[in-house]
Amino acid sequence: MLSKGYLGSLCLLLAIPVSESSPFGRLLERRSTFDKRTTLPSIDGSGLRTGIHFTANSACQIPSPDYGPMEHCPQSSVLVDPTLKHASTDGSYDTFTTIQAAIDSIPHNSRKWTILVMAGTYHEQLNVTRAGPLTILGQTYDPLDKAKNLVTVIGGTANYNSRYTDNAFTSTLTVAPNLNASLTGAGPTGFTPPDDTPFGNTDFRVYNMDFRNTEFDISNGPALAISISRANAGLYFCGFYSYQDTVYIGKLGNAYFYRNEIAGQTDFLYGFGTAWIAYSKLLMRSCGGGVTAWKGTNTTFENTYGVYISLTDVVAANSTIATSMVGRCALGRPWNYLHRSIFMDCYMDASIRPVGYIPWSSNAAWNQVVVPGQTLLGEYDSYGPGANLAGRAQTQTQNGVQIVVTTELTKSEVKEYSTPAKVFMDPNGKLTSTWIDTQFYPY
Ligand SMILES: *[C@@H]1O[C@H](CO)[C@@H](O)[C@H](O)[C@H]1NC(C)=O
Ligand SMILES: *[C@@H]1O[C@H](CO)[C@@H](O)[C@H](O)[C@H]1NC(C)=O
Ligand SMILES: *[C@@H]1O[C@H](CO)[C@@H](O)[C@H](O)[C@H]1NC(C)=O
Ligand SMILES: *[C@@H]1O[C@H](CO)[C@@H](O)[C@H](O)[C@H]1NC(C)=O
Repeated sequence: MLSKGYLGSLCLLLAIPVSESSPFGRLLERRSTFDKRTTLPSIDGSGLRTGIHFTANSACQIPSPDYGPMEHCPQSSVLVDPTLKHASTDGSYDTFTTIQAAIDSIPHNSRKWTILVMAGTYHEQLNVTRAGPLTILGQTYDPLDKAKNLVTVIGGTANYNSRYTDNAFTSTLTVAPNLNASLTGAGPTGFTPPDDTPFGNTDFRVYNMDFRNTEFDISNGPALAISISRANAGLYFCGFYSYQDTVYIGKLGNAYFYRNEIAGQTDFLYGFGTAWIAYSKLLMRSCGGGVTAWKGTNTTFENTYGVYISLTDVVAANSTIATSMVGRCALGRPWNYLHRSIFMDCYMDASIRPVGYIPWSSNAAWNQVVVPGQTLLGEYDSYGPGANLAGRAQTQTQNGVQIVVTTELTKSEVKEYSTPAKVFMDPNGKLTSTWIDTQFYPY
């Protein structure tokens, strides 16, 4: 089923230029040509794609007038079709009208399952507890262009005035083995689930889908678009849109975002686990808190929990608001003193504050102070109008003391964290990244 064109474009994927000055080795070029096609899908007069398939999933994802939607999907696939028009006539696959019904239909075993979601807008909150591998594919005519996604999930709420006992209830998409695993909790260490809490999904993937938490079109309490805890998740060519706390990666959560668009306003990347964001766009919808707010955890082993943002644009959501944001947005602030975040080789527009990161507040509680050597509010090789080495070196006031908050990492310091394989860990502290789709792993 794989055509020559597919192989040709894979070779193209691997042709990454090399330079001497980057910690990423092969990634010498800031904007490499990784996964840029020379063969664009051809679109016929009716707007339908014809021609070669260029990713492992594209034969299933791309609709065709010549065959049914499930014709080229993997074994063990189910369809989401709100109209039921494409339900199987021979019983070869099951069809559901909602994505959650499809998720719930899949047995809790270790077999890999796939869900194909037909183009459309779905008003749902999704919750995946299954441990076995699960892939959700959004139909699209162009799997390598997030801007052409045809599937949107709108759901979730905001935890304003603490109307819920926990932010976990607000998310558009949740992946966690059970409710306890997904709870944020409060205080320096957050909620600690009982010791016998299992690990959830070992290999969850979504391709070409947008998730929006739209209860309010402004920051009005935590409103998650994605919540990943005790699970491994790969998000490819997806969008996550909210205002406050858009992305939550909870305890023992691992999440890899490749060519995503993530929009938020206040502390919109937050959590306890590990997130890697690559070749993406972080859209600031205003300036509140910081872009990142992480809580580190003491473990018996040395851990690498944190948020790593690589080769990504950190920019105002649009040009209308950009002018009022100049010099106002902070790169992040320490949700606890073990916070770890690093922007690596990122483009930053003029919205970013000259000082970069900020203290949690000018009168920070003991557990939210910046502690040199323990708190890592890091940056390496930023560029663009928001990059400002002189500004980053300026001191700021924390509890009456002047401190430098942003750490400019050297090439050898950043090397420790320079690829996803060096930071994603299993619950025992063993490095693990085999759940990442190698088609979209340019490191
Ligand atoms: C997700 O589903 C599980 C199993 O039904 C449930 O216990 C849990 O509360 C749900 N999580 C959320 C955040 O609603
Ligand atoms: C959730 O955690 C609480 C507190 O540790 C515990 O009492 C409760 O039994 C747990 N619930 C489940 C379903 O495991
Ligand atoms: C720009 O972004 C702001 C904040 O998200 C939004 O309210 C506004 O509608 C956007 N304007 C345009 C022209 O898209
Ligand atoms: C981490 O461990 C130290 C030393 O035992 C302790 O003082 C601190 O409160 C712990 N911090 C967290 C966030 O658990």
